Amino acid sequence: MIDTHCHIVYGVDDGSDCAEESLEMARIAVDSGITDIIATPHCIRGMFENFVGRGYEESFERLEELLSENGFVNKLKIHRGMEAFADENTLKDFDRGMLARMAGSDYLLIECDFGEDPWVLRSVLKGLLERSVIPIVAHPERYYFAHDSLRYLFDYVDMGCVLQLDTESITGAFGRECRSAAFSLLESGAAQLAGSDAHDSLERRPDMRRAADLVADTVSNRYAELLFDINPARLLENKRLLFRQSRSSEPEGRKPRMNRRNEGFMSDEEYWGI
Ligand SMILES: [Fe+2]
Repeated sequence: MIDTHCHIVYGVDDGSDCAEESLEMARIAVDSGITDIIATPHCIRGMFENFVGRGYEESFERLEELLSENGFVNKLKIHRGMEAFADENTLKDFDRGMLARMAGSDYLLIECDFGEDPWVLRSVLKGLLERSVIPIVAHPERYYFAHDSLRYLFDYVDMGCVLQLDTESITGAFGRECRSAAFSLLESGAAQLAGSDAHDSLERRPDMRRAADLVADTVSNRYAELLFDINPARLLENKRLLFRQSRSSEPEGRKPRMNRRNEGFMSDEEYWGI
């Protein structure tokens, strides 16, 4: 598996606070079957200003050195990323080259305040798309507006954005509303990625196995594979991510057939269109 959302870089945000914690997180990740992590420190003006620059680069080099000294060289690869915060400065910061895309790809991971107006987030997403960036909306199921209606998130997908679920929303650690929104996004096929969003080695751990098993058991093995293996690997290769409904023979980048009114899970036949 490949984790596309993890706060394993230490001492830069509210994630890992020291080398030992990052090492423990790396052990947990490897033990749970993770081979690659796109490390995504928060980048929030006035709070965690991890903009691209010397400090950002040094924090990654420190982590890479630590992992290499502790025998992780062939076990776990760290890729550069960032969890950028959507506000009135985001597009200006992007234009100044201050925001890091995911593993040097066309994708950028973006979050906003949980109580944000969905139209404000939409305007930032639109601006990024106009700049040929593909926004990955972090934990869409946790925003308050998503608990009222998923229509905003479906709109983001129609625009060309990617939805990335937190694994802990799938397992229920963030409560019923987040879990319900996460499963609605799974049922509709709108989610294209899932990330651990791990912050430490105890509470929010980089272990995605349980969530992957849950998706496999309650939705389908193929969708679990798509979320945890196939699409993350395609992201690393800067390829267009696939939707659950796409058959492998179909052209890449096809828009999803939203199944918004479907209350139940889709069968494999419906999924693959066979
Ligand atoms: Fe995060």
